[in-house]
Amino acid sequence: MPPEPAARGSVATSTATPAPVGRDDVLGLLRGVVDPELGSDVVDLGMIRDVEIGKGGHIGVTVALTIAGCPLKAQLDNDIHARLLGHPGVTGIDISWTEMTDEERSACMARARWNATQRAGTTTIPPTTRVLAIASGKGGVGKSSVTANLAVGLAADGFAVGVLDADIGGFSQPRMLGVEGRLEGANDEKKMVPHRRDFGSGFVEVVSMGFLVDDEQSALTWRGQTLNRAVQHFLEDVRWSDDLDYLLIDMPPGTGDIQMGLARMLPRTEVLLVTTPALAAQKVAARAADLARKTYLRVVGVIENMTSFTCDHGTSYALFGEGGGETLAHDIGAPLLGAIPLEPSVVLGGDIGTPAVLGDGAAAEAFRALVRTIATEAAPPVDMAGCSARLLDKVEAALGPTP
Ligand SMILES: Nc1ncnc2c1ncn2[C@@H]1O[C@H](COP(=O)(O)OP(=O)(O)OP(=O)(O)O)[C@@H](O)[C@H]1O
Ligand SMILES: [Mg+2]
Repeated sequence: MPPEPAARGSVATSTATPAPVGRDDVLGLLRGVVDPELGSDVVDLGMIRDVEIGKGGHIGVTVALTIAGCPLKAQLDNDIHARLLGHPGVTGIDISWTEMTDEERSACMARARWNATQRAGTTTIPPTTRVLAIASGKGGVGKSSVTANLAVGLAADGFAVGVLDADIGGFSQPRMLGVEGRLEGANDEKKMVPHRRDFGSGFVEVVSMGFLVDDEQSALTWRGQTLNRAVQHFLEDVRWSDDLDYLLIDMPPGTGDIQMGLARMLPRTEVLLVTTPALAAQKVAARAADLARKTYLRVVGVIENMTSFTCDHGTSYALFGEGGGETLAHDIGAPLLGAIPLEPSVVLGGDIGTPAVLGDGAAAEAFRALVRTIATEAAPPVDMAGCSARLLDKVEAALGPTP
């Protein structure tokens, strides 16, 4: 069984009175919960039979499982708690579990099957992949560095990791991950095949605008909806590995179009917020958290970057102030997942395409600790161990080929 999500029970610490939660909010949040076997969200699949809004933000949800002993019940239970409790207006949850009627079950299967056959307009991200967007609101706080180090750290621990560089105009992943060359559509489906680099027993697959344009200037002129179309292209037209454990999305600075687009295209996205200890960065990051919540994306936690600098003599200097990460985490009711010190190895690693996490020193240690926290507590990979076979495959086999 996957460990308890860290957000559980640790919410509603904000000093401001949260807005009351409505039925639409609950359904919006539940659209982020995907049944990993059926590949669609629980609202779409008709699994949410009832929602009750109780006094003081206490929510009752009745969930109808396809079969009573569904091995994914624990996973869904965790996900529903994490999604709903991540909303500041939700104070508690009661889930009643029930089983679908035969009629409901066939409607659910028909829906799942239809979704699976509708290639256009759906993402190519496997339903068992955990999607984490690394965002901050403010530029230059280390989103891209955190993304590259997390990706490589997770891969070195044996995970299959995708990196989607959503910073179309200011891409940095090709350089930071040490990957270059044009992306080609190299298989029968004419999907783009990401570049891949092996680390330890895992690997990192990466797509970036840097692999599609000749120079940075030509991407810089893209704006608004065009930017969103580029991200959509990466979500729909890339042949990601079927066994991808994580997809990390390196977000551009700001809280604009891309985050809104992502919430629409991939509502199961969860957000890791990066901030520096400075008050200004923390305030802007709080706005990013706000937008995440408005678009029903769960904030997994906060990462404080550039925490302090320790000189060769061992003295630490809090160059950008102190406590920003902790204050932000407290204000938005999400855990502080890690603090990365300011260290030249991070800059150097990014410049030579060998992320600091692979080396020695305090920053490498801090990144490795962050990787462990994410993989074991805050956002563990989707657990499919309890399933003997994919239900949808069985349904597909029973129903025969699509006409
Ligand atoms: N912990 C750290 N120690 C030292 N330098 C760092 C650290 N984290 C990031 N940097 C450096 O700070 C600069 C900005 O980092 P990065 O590009 O990762 O930020 P970003 O938030 O992605 O920026 P943008 O908003 O422009 O995309 C880079 O030069 C990077 O090498
Ligand atoms: Mg960046």
